[in-house]
Formats: sequence, C-alpha cells, structure tokens
Amino acid sequence: MDIAVIGSNMVDLIAYINDMPKMGETLEAPDFKMGCGGKGANQAVAAATLGAKVMMLTKVGDDIFAENTIRNLKQYGINTDYVESVEGVSSGVAPIFVDQSSQNRILIIKGANQYLKPADIDRAAEQLKQCKLFILQLEIPLETVYYAIDFANSHGIQVILNPAPASKTLDIRYACHCDFFMPNETELEILTGLPVQSMEEIQAAASVLLSKGLKNLIVTLGDKGAVWLTEDKKVFIEPYPVKAVDTSGAGDAFIGCFAYHYIQSHDIAESMKMASLFAAYSVTGQGTQSSYPNKDQFEQLKQQHQC
Ligand code: RIB
Ligand code: NA
Repeated sequence: MDIAVIGSNMVDLIAYINDMPKMGETLEAPDFKMGCGGKGANQAVAAATLGAKVMMLTKVGDDIFAENTIRNLKQYGINTDYVESVEGVSSGVAPIFVDQSSQNRILIIKGANQYLKPADIDRAAEQLKQCKLFILQLEIPLETVYYAIDFANSHGIQVILNPAPASKTLDIRYACHCDFFMPNETELEILTGLPVQSMEEIQAAASVLLSKGLKNLIVTLGDKGAVWLTEDKKVFIEPYPVKAVDTSGAGDAFIGCFAYHYIQSHDIAESMKMASLFAAYSVTGQGTQSSYPNKDQFEQLKQQHQC
C-alpha cells in the first residue's frame, strides 16, 4: 500500500445555478448532476486513478448511497476492506451550488463520516502501518485526525493535512507534526484571520503559520496557481489557463495528484506542477471525481504541455 486516505466520502448533489434564491423564494436552475465526492474520497480517487495503491478508511451510511460509494471506490482499485457502514445514519451528502462563473458554494452534511473514530484506526492498524503516506482532511472528527497524525508519527509514515473545511478549533500543533499542510486561500484566511487578496498578503498570513513550526505549507490559489512556503523558501507554481466549467473538487484533485507524484519522486515543486495540471483539467468538466482525467488522458495532457 502506498497511500491511506483517512477521511470523508459524500454524495455530491450539484445544482448549476444562475442565481441563489432569496429567503422564501423559489428559483429554477438550469442543470443538476449527482456524483461521488467528499474531500477524502476525491483525493483517494485522484491518486488511485494515476496508479497509486490506495486504501481508504471511511464510513458510509445505512442508505441507498452506501453501496454505490463503495462500488465507486473499488472501481478505481481503492482498497475498501476497512470501510464500514453505520446503522441508522445517513451517508455524507454535499449540496453544491455552481454559478455561471464556475465557482462553487458547498454545504456538507457529514452523516456517517462523523462516526469515523480513533478505534477505526486501531482496527486497520496492520494495513495502515504498511503505507508510506496518510492524507487527512477535516470532514471527520478532529480527534480522529489527531490520532491518525500520532499514529503516522510513531510509524514513520508521512502526512498531508488538508485543513478543509477550515476549522478555527484545529490545534495547529498537530499540523506541525505533518509533512505537508495544504489549505486553499480561503482556508488560510479563516485559519489566520488575515486577508489573502494579494501574494503579499498570502505570504504574510503564511508566515504567521510557519512561525508556529509548520514544515511545508502549500497553498492552492485556484486560477492563480499554487505556492509552497517553508521558513526560508518560497516556490510559486504558475496556473495552467483553462476555460473553467466547475471548480468543485479541484483542490482535492491537486492533493491526490501531488501525493501520487510525491511518493515516487520526493520532488515537491515537480509534484506541484503535475498537480496543478491535473487540477486544471478537472475544472473543465462538471462534477468532482467525474471530472478528473484518467491516466491516459493525463499522459496526453502532459505531452501537450511538454511536462
Ligand atoms: O472539495 C470538494 C468536496 O467537498 C465535494 O466533493 C463535497 O463532497 C465536499 O466534501
Ligand atoms: Na470539475
């Protein structure tokens, strides 16, 4: 096993809208798409579709979505041996609103994801110990995230922590025990309470976090690219210009693709370039996982861009 994603799965219910209805108002929207999502599952799929050996530790509900979620993960070759369903609880769902500018607003109802506990890490310990890298997000209980970080540290496993959705109660000391801390600009803003409108502001906010002892901070900036910061280094990765249709799940695409390349090369800047290309492709299609390129499509894309 290369990678363990200890995290969420959701069913994405994506409404493509012209306007957001006001209170009490009913509005018609032009399009709808349902698909498999959840930040954890999206990241697992992005890494697995490129060829990483991925296991997922997650919980599904006791409803019509559960079986489909597991089937979907398996289709990508993701190990689901430790995925359990929680009786009497709904699966995680995410109503998403994508406007005409292709930007998204996401609501999450965590459902079964709330039931992923430290005991589940113990249950899967033997298999988890074999992994090189854990990928974690914040759509499961924080205590589980912390437990996973401690587990990884005591077994020499590297960790990517994606602090999404942003949580003000995240104990930054745990983030310092991760190899990579990967927020997007909005999450950076919420975590620091500082503005992130310009590159200077982003750097100022980043240095607040870095001064607390973070190792590698990678901030994804949407159509403005991505930046990797450490105490003494700043590397900016240019975006690939594309015609955006739906940006949902692009950050997850970036993280999964980054993880796949990083475990092979340990070259952070190069892995970010690949991740940026992979994520750029994903915004040209509707949905989250359904918009990720497969291995062949990604190879073609790399040739087109000579990388
Ligand atoms: O990051 C995008 C994801 O956030 C969606 O797939 C949705 O399920 C929420 O988890
Ligand atoms: Na997309």
